[in-house]
Amino acid sequence: MIQLPEQSRVYEFRVFLDACGYNTEQLTQRIGRARPPAQGEEQQMFDDSREITVLNVLVRLFLLGAPVDRDTVTEFLPDLVVSFCNDAGLLHYDGDIVTGRVVIIPVEDLLFASDAFWILGTGEARDFVLPASTHSANFLRYLTLRDHVDDTLDLGCGCGIHALFAARHSTRVTATDISPQAIAYTRFNALLNDIHNVDCIEGSLFEPIADRRFDLIVSNPPFVIGPSETFAYRDNPLELDEFCRILVGQAPRYLKEGAHLQMLCEWVEVEGESWVDRISNWITACDAWVLHATPLSPASYAKQRTSDLSGESVNAGSQQEWIAYFDRHQVRAVHPGMLVLRRNDAANWLHVHNLPADITEPAGAAVARGIAAVDFLEACDDEALLAATLRLADDLEAEQTQSEGGIAGVRLRLDNGLSTEADIDGGVAAFLNLFNGKRTVGDSVGEFARVADADIEQLTGDLLSIVRVFVSRGFLVPHEFE
Ligand SMILES: C[S@@+](CC[C@H](N)C(=O)[O-])C[C@H]1O[C@@H](n2cnc3c(N)ncnc32)[C@H](O)[C@@H]1O
Repeated sequence: MIQLPEQSRVYEFRVFLDACGYNTEQLTQRIGRARPPAQGEEQQMFDDSREITVLNVLVRLFLLGAPVDRDTVTEFLPDLVVSFCNDAGLLHYDGDIVTGRVVIIPVEDLLFASDAFWILGTGEARDFVLPASTHSANFLRYLTLRDHVDDTLDLGCGCGIHALFAARHSTRVTATDISPQAIAYTRFNALLNDIHNVDCIEGSLFEPIADRRFDLIVSNPPFVIGPSETFAYRDNPLELDEFCRILVGQAPRYLKEGAHLQMLCEWVEVEGESWVDRISNWITACDAWVLHATPLSPASYAKQRTSDLSGESVNAGSQQEWIAYFDRHQVRAVHPGMLVLRRNDAANWLHVHNLPADITEPAGAAVARGIAAVDFLEACDDEALLAATLRLADDLEAEQTQSEGGIAGVRLRLDNGLSTEADIDGGVAAFLNLFNGKRTVGDSVGEFARVADADIEQLTGDLLSIVRVFVSRGFLVPHEFE
């Protein structure tokens, strides 16, 4: 397990890495990427770091996971650095061959150490601590609400990626994990990044935090559903989606009124039950904004989950075993997404926001606006909505389209990180264009009916439904929003 040398030595190591250019910008410039190679990229990255320089020795050891001979390590890395790496357990020796025991991955301007990938092929695989470069970690990172808060909890912290980014906009962060290795990495990474407001506590679920309450809870829990318990970092140890259900059920007790939980989640759709009802039954005393990604059939899910991070097949049971497990439980699909719960002791709402594409840039502000939009709609009956003044969103893009039958339409797209899109016909586009931030909704409905020479009474219901959909998706924004 990684050891924790004194703070000053960890900091010296960080200064050395910085001085060598071991950061997002310079690694991208020199070897094309600042992350471990994806499947098939290894040879290219090996070639790109072939010249023996100090930076390339670090890249071989801590990004590429390639062996370096002991003489090269001692010749190119200062003694102080080598002895630090040895004391902290960052290197693995096999005779004269040295390999990184950890990967060190830059994410923005922070560095995260975690287990090297070769550990997945050893007896320690079950307790593998995930790298900061995974899709799920960065999906949650991009979506995290970044308003300043007092107390944040990162439940299942792994290498500490969410805890350390939250440390920048929280007075205090508590990072918990059932894995002692994960806690050790989060402590190490906090020091490596000179971050001092993160308290790390080992334990399961909410047990380590007793009766404390938080302003923000973030969690990328072990949400994978299936018959495997191969990896503690991903395999939910309970039946179906039970681990996430328990987390969602317990979370409200640990949230201050108005506080948020953001957690990645996968849940099943079983025969005879709608998936929305399933998660809605998990939630109490909270509003819920559900970011819903594309569901997978049991067969596609089994294929995906019987491969590991690098696409290699893993010892997590055969696809047939996974499919049989889903058949036994009458599972028709697995739904991935992110749940955002907001503690609210009054009447609650649940809103589903479909996600058509991946998240590749910060979108926390869009999540906050999505929640505010639903609040606005919940507070508006038809009369109030008709009296409201709305405008088109600043980041709305509209593109002319033509269907195969030659019918002209418009594709709306919001450039807000959530890839929100809608295809609308020319009539609806004309209605939308009436929202200039000055007219009320009632005026826009009236103007549309007048130009179309239609009966306003008959049109109003349908047009208000359209307005509600456009507000919830963020295409139309209430005038009072910033
Ligand atoms: C998918 S990993 C996420 C790690 C990190 N937060 C990230 O996003 O990369 C899930 C983490 O939850 C931890 N975990 C598993 N079961 C847990 C439990 N019962 N209570 C707390 N943490 C748990 C695992 O050890 C692992 O570090």
